[in-house]
Amino acid sequence: MSTLITNIGELVTNAPGSGPEPGGFAAITGAALIIDGGRIAWTGQAAVAPAADQRVDARGRAVLPGFVDSHAHLVFAGERGAEFAARMAGLPYSAGGIRSTVAATREASDDQLLDNLRRLAAEMLAQGITTFECKSGYGLTVPDEARSVALAAQVTPEVTYLGAHVVPPEFEADPAGYVDLACGPMLAACAPHARWVDVFCERGAFDADQARAILSAGRSAGLQPRVHANQLGHGPGVQVAVEAGAASADHCTYLSDADVAALAASGTVATLLPGVEFSTRQPYPDARRLLEAGVTVAIATDCNPGSCFTSSIPFCIALAVRDMRMTTQEAVWSATRGGALALRRDDVGHLGAGARADLVMLNAPTHAYLAYRPGVPQVAAVWQSGGLVAGTTDLPSRSGPTSHDRFGAVVGLESRP
Ligand code: NIG
Ligand code: FE
Repeated sequence: MSTLITNIGELVTNAPGSGPEPGGFAAITGAALIIDGGRIAWTGQAAVAPAADQRVDARGRAVLPGFVDSHAHLVFAGERGAEFAARMAGLPYSAGGIRSTVAATREASDDQLLDNLRRLAAEMLAQGITTFECKSGYGLTVPDEARSVALAAQVTPEVTYLGAHVVPPEFEADPAGYVDLACGPMLAACAPHARWVDVFCERGAFDADQARAILSAGRSAGLQPRVHANQLGHGPGVQVAVEAGAASADHCTYLSDADVAALAASGTVATLLPGVEFSTRQPYPDARRLLEAGVTVAIATDCNPGSCFTSSIPFCIALAVRDMRMTTQEAVWSATRGGALALRRDDVGHLGAGARADLVMLNAPTHAYLAYRPGVPQVAAVWQSGGLVAGTTDLPSRSGPTSHDRFGAVVGLESRP
């Protein structure tokens, strides 16, 4: 069964090699696309679109690749609303808060963890995230980390083993012993369920040598490295990530010139998490410095109960545009194709022929509305592998003479006779 989506006001394709700059963002106006067998079969001008078995009329709405959220911590129990409120009243963020989520997570049943995980994954999907990464890191015992990655694997193939999130309280006096555990039996229990290994390389968490040991053990167990780097201050995280050939160095809030140069010369993506700076009142990373140096930049949510409890990529895009001075094109590219590159995925994050048919239809005419109308739910419909998984193509008409009438009108799904 093939589907034609036509009368697309703006179709963001990000098709590889389709340019123009900045950053590979590419879009077609007055567009159409055809989905066949769960893949993108064709994109182009609506006027010359081939026929298909069924037809969706976008009535001028924008269609984008599904968002790719390459950094999230969704396996946890409890919440830290009071910690957030205290922070807004003047207390600083510190890595120590992670331990309170560790205590709640260890207490929770598998069912409670899975319910929470599914609820957050559903929130993400409703906001257009069709691919997401999910880390462990709130268990920090062999069985709690093993169940965290096993539960994560039920909702995404992009599972990350983050046993090296912080040193848990019972190892306070023996951090080296915890690194041995995280490189040994804990890794062995987690590796079968994970694709990635991550480490929080930061003062108060793990130093450069510990991080190297963890990444190298993870690699020996078949996992690919990614790193929490330079979030709370200057440090060795980015250099360790680049040295290890990590897919991504995440946060990148405090960077030296050497860090920027190392990222630019490497295949390591800099994943920026502006929701964290919003929620911790830290300075935002200097996205322009990275982009101007030629670094590949991704944007992700970092959804977690401590430093940033948002599952909204549209919100992160708005922050990236307003507060990190990215263009709307750069920010959308970074939350789609950039996220895909941070996960070393070629099949998502763009709508070139052959890509997985993961799409977001906005209740708006262009991608820019994601930043232009911050905080407003604008995702009308979401497709994953060609199937409609959230929202509707049968939206009610809006009344009133607003300029948005043609985007709020019925999106018809019609079958060809
Ligand atoms: O990415 N930095 C380390 N980990 C998370 C925060 C986790 C927490 O505070 O619970 C982060 O910001
Ligand atoms: Fe994180």
